[in-house]
Amino acid sequence: MAAKRVLITGVSRGLGRAMAEEFIRLGHVVSGCGRSSKEIIQLQKQFGSPHDFAIVDVAQNEDVAAWGKRILSNQSVPDLLLNNAGIINSPAPLWNVGAGEFSDIISVNLLGVANVIRHFVPAMVARRRGVIVNFSSGWGRTVSGDFAPYCATKWAIEGLTRALAQELPEGMAAIPFNPGIINTDMLRKCRADGAGNYPGPGEWAKIVAPFLLKLGPSDNGQPLTAPVRGAND
Ligand SMILES: NC(=O)c1ccc[n+]([C@@H]2O[C@H](COP(=O)([O-])OP(=O)(O)OC[C@H]3O[C@@H](n4cnc5c(N)ncnc54)[C@H](OP(=O)(O)O)[C@@H]3O)[C@@H](O)[C@H]2O)c1
Repeated sequence: MAAKRVLITGVSRGLGRAMAEEFIRLGHVVSGCGRSSKEIIQLQKQFGSPHDFAIVDVAQNEDVAAWGKRILSNQSVPDLLLNNAGIINSPAPLWNVGAGEFSDIISVNLLGVANVIRHFVPAMVARRRGVIVNFSSGWGRTVSGDFAPYCATKWAIEGLTRALAQELPEGMAAIPFNPGIINTDMLRKCRADGAGNYPGPGEWAKIVAPFLLKLGPSDNGQPLTAPVRGAND
């Protein structure tokens, strides 16, 4: 397979980091972002050009605009755009979730995805090529008490992505993607006692990176799930 340009949000740890490392191992060129400066600087040192890792908060539209301008000015229009960055609320009934925490979840999980689409997708549309994968969740299709803000954003991602799919020109695809259940910081926050029963991000990425690379126009608008064990638990 020819080298693809893969743009990933949230590469400092978890699924984003594992995907970045796996795509690079497979010979593809990765641009990624996250807020944690130590991890991003370490990635940039470890991999260097033509890969590119930047400290960007996807919730900040102006920061995403500057990031997009810099990446796209190098002719690095993504072939595969992975809106992976996300956060989850601390478990609590909805009436106990503070306004600030709820707002943060929406800013990252929903507005952050729209910010990245706003600043990268026009260049993809101009080429009439490329696949956009927005990370949803099992909880974007079912629900769980104590996680209402997170569920709300992931259900929104399913709708936003399917509407986007209708706007794209032929030759492109937008896909809401349930990655399954993977033992990351996020899972440990919501399943403190059971996270260890699930695969780690490295094992997951070995299966999921090739799956994502094969997505194309025929998948446009289809809600997909990672082909990994336990994904529908
Ligand atoms: N793990 C699971 O079982 C599971 C299940 C269903 C869905 N998902 C989805 O999969 C995606 C990845 O989850 P994960 O388990 O890998 O989570 P994670 O281990 O908590 O990692 C989240 C990543 O997102 C980044 N991030 C968070 N807020 C950001 C922001 N404002 N700007 C830029 N980057 C930001 C984090 O980096 P910084 O903190 O450095 O910014 C980190 O790299 C999420 O969308 C999540 O909802 C995960």
